[in-house]
Amino acid sequence: MRVAVFSAHNFERDYLSGANADRHEIFFIDVRLNEQTARLAAGFDAVSIFTSDHADAPVLEILAAEGVRFLALRTAGFNNVDLKKANELGIKVARVPAYSPYAVAEHTVALMLAMNRKLIRAHQRIMDNNFTLDGLVGFDMHGKTVGIIGTGKIGHIVARILHGFGCKLLAFDSFLNDDLVKELGTKYVSIETLCRESDIITLHVPLTDDTKFIIDTKNIDLMKRGVMLVNTSRGKLVKTEAVIKALKTQQIGFYGMDVYEEEEELFFEDHSEDILQDDMIARLMTFNNVFITSHQAFLTDTALSNIAETTMYNLNCFEDGKKSENEISF
Ligand code: NAI
Repeated sequence: MRVAVFSAHNFERDYLSGANADRHEIFFIDVRLNEQTARLAAGFDAVSIFTSDHADAPVLEILAAEGVRFLALRTAGFNNVDLKKANELGIKVARVPAYSPYAVAEHTVALMLAMNRKLIRAHQRIMDNNFTLDGLVGFDMHGKTVGIIGTGKIGHIVARILHGFGCKLLAFDSFLNDDLVKELGTKYVSIETLCRESDIITLHVPLTDDTKFIIDTKNIDLMKRGVMLVNTSRGKLVKTEAVIKALKTQQIGFYGMDVYEEEEELFFEDHSEDILQDDMIARLMTFNNVFITSHQAFLTDTALSNIAETTMYNLNCFEDGKKSENEISF
């Protein structure tokens, strides 16, 4: 099969080529899939996309007209695909449901620790021959209450790691995970109680109509003063303007973000020669208690191997006329 891989980053190309083992004809395309670029898929049987690609109705119509019959997502989330339209057009869609929940969970905890113990500031000081400690006071994670919003695969692992630190765990999810309650003593509570009682709040729900802006002014106002908030899930779970306001008043004491409401035009790309146009991220970058990574929580060797293997497996199944268990049905 001929496969067009959109948003093909250097960090993933060798993994994808290795997993393909010369079976398909793979073409790496640097640009993101959108209405302007969709015609690049002309003559391809399948298209593979990543987080910031758009497979909305107009794009899918172009892909279908160009002969594309399969969409291989290199992600778990599929909020960027119009599944109804894909179904109508006869384009099958498959994803990588879990490539390494450990990668994302471990990065989440890395953000917590880096912010808490002010590791970047400490390192920068040392590089300037400044070996003082003033301004670097952190807090013991042990005994702190952590609120986990979303206790699926990633949230569960975050809970286990933090349980190891001796944190108390609160959770909010539409499904109660018995293991979390029995194994880790997690208490499921309402989102309001979680916001009121947590010292650290971490987001692990998918982005849906129900979860969009789940962290807004209303919930931030309920939080403990100086709370640490971490988002490694999806940018639009958080109303960034509300977070900036709360950082200014110190209602939020720390904000760790691997994802950003307006990340599409920024993340995964080198803008070092450009004038930054996004005033919201510019403001976030001025806070010394905000820690930003550019959607890299998944970026481990294990995760990239798994993404590549599953993507190729999904493509192989399609070519062989078999339905992959990773196909998303509408
Ligand atoms: P999962 O599907 O295993 O868990 C999601 C949990 O959220 C489930 O327990 C579900 O019941 C709960 N949930 C869904 N809608 C809800 C609602 N309206 N209210 C309350 N609970 C709700 O997903 P997984 O694998 O744990 O991933 C979570 C998210 O992490 C993904 O959706 C994705 O957005 C993000 N992610 C981020 C990555 C990164 O590199 N930063 C990489 C991979 C995933």
